[in-house]
Amino acid sequence: MQLRPFAGTYLTDPAVVWRELLNAPKGVHFADDLGLWVISRHEHVRRAFADAEAFGSALTLAPVYEMCPEALAVVMRLDVPPTTAAADSPVHARTRGALRATFAHTGPRVADRYGPIVGRRVTELVARIADRRGGVVDLVPEFTVLLPLLVVVDILGVPERDVPRIRSWADGQIALIWGQPEPAEQVRLAQGLLDFWHYCQALVARRTAEGATGDDFVSRALRHRDGDDAVLTPAEVASLAFNLLVAGHETTAGLLAHCLDRALSEPARWGRIAADPAAVPAFLEEVLRFGPAIDGWLRVALRPLTIGGVDIPAGGRCLLLIGAANRDPAAFADPDRFDPARMGGRGHLSFGYGPHFCIGAALARLEARIALVRLAEAMPELRLARGHQSRFKPNLAFRAHRTLLVTQARSSQRT
Ligand code: HEM
Repeated sequence: MQLRPFAGTYLTDPAVVWRELLNAPKGVHFADDLGLWVISRHEHVRRAFADAEAFGSALTLAPVYEMCPEALAVVMRLDVPPTTAAADSPVHARTRGALRATFAHTGPRVADRYGPIVGRRVTELVARIADRRGGVVDLVPEFTVLLPLLVVVDILGVPERDVPRIRSWADGQIALIWGQPEPAEQVRLAQGLLDFWHYCQALVARRTAEGATGDDFVSRALRHRDGDDAVLTPAEVASLAFNLLVAGHETTAGLLAHCLDRALSEPARWGRIAADPAAVPAFLEEVLRFGPAIDGWLRVALRPLTIGGVDIPAGGRCLLLIGAANRDPAAFADPDRFDPARMGGRGHLSFGYGPHFCIGAALARLEARIALVRLAEAMPELRLARGHQSRFKPNLAFRAHRTLLVTQARSSQRT
């Protein structure tokens, strides 16, 4: 089969393709256009996420196409040590342990440590948008992308003035790995990635020189390592920062855009968000299930294996189709119906499953909840602009809205 993720139906309405795959007699297919084994059923995707001995992560961040030699020459100069998402054990267990010790990831600790940052940044951005009432605003650059980016730079202790270039580097990394850029673009994006990596190394060097006394993530990680490379090397601290700056914003930006698109597509639903904030977590879970911000994720077979009756050779790269798994009727009743009151929506795989389960899930949920409620309270008359249609960037992993144009009647209250 051919998946053709960068154009046509998969790009505009992936659920059609997910349904076809789920209805096929086998749940695993080889996509000739990508050279990837596509795993679509909930049971199989969950098993692949859970079994890190059989499904490795070392190639998770390796491009899905053959890079041109010039771009490859630039990428070869990237000496980023693998940590967390791109690492297998024992490196994975060690670096994940360091991250768990230094980055708040449980609900109460996230609310305690990062809640004030999120609240402050949401207030600032909502006020900025409220000031623009009467005109058309694109919520993608002005809210859904900016909010998680500002939150993650605050957590990492990165100066706000660097936000535009971090945004451009992170966008570039996602296009370079999971997109389909032309050769000249590959070289430009690869160069950006190298600059991004040097930036993270310089950040760590600066914090080290200052004595790593601050409350920011980099200083915490440096204190955690306490000069011991067996705990974490300085390069691994830079690698964690490099990964968090991307993982911490592109994903949550996607979640926010999917939430707002869904919530604003029916004025009554938008009204209910402000009227009943206690129902928002269930709404969020259903958005996560129905349209995940990451709808495909890569693994590599570490040995010959059989899944769903299909043999995958050692070294075969696998695409775990999270979007399809979340619509599997074997896991969810009436899966193609968006139902915010769905019980058990938490069985979705949008944050992965098992040993690599997303460390930022609680932060993403907190950000989305606060952002939605505050925006709905401040701007009850916010509406999608006339003729709005969801259009996504062509990408195998990240399903990101290109725009989210909204208008707001002048009579709306201010924050
Ligand atoms: C809606 C938002 C998010 C989504 C959909 C998402 C999705 C995912 C997924 C699917 C994985 C599993 C990767 C794997 O199994 O290889 C993952 C891992 C990870 N996520 Fe998230 N993520 C989100 C938000 C965040 C945030 C806010 C952060 C941090 C600030 C973050 C940091 C990470 C890290 C460090 C890992 C690697 C964990 C490991 O390999 O042990 N994510 N995320």
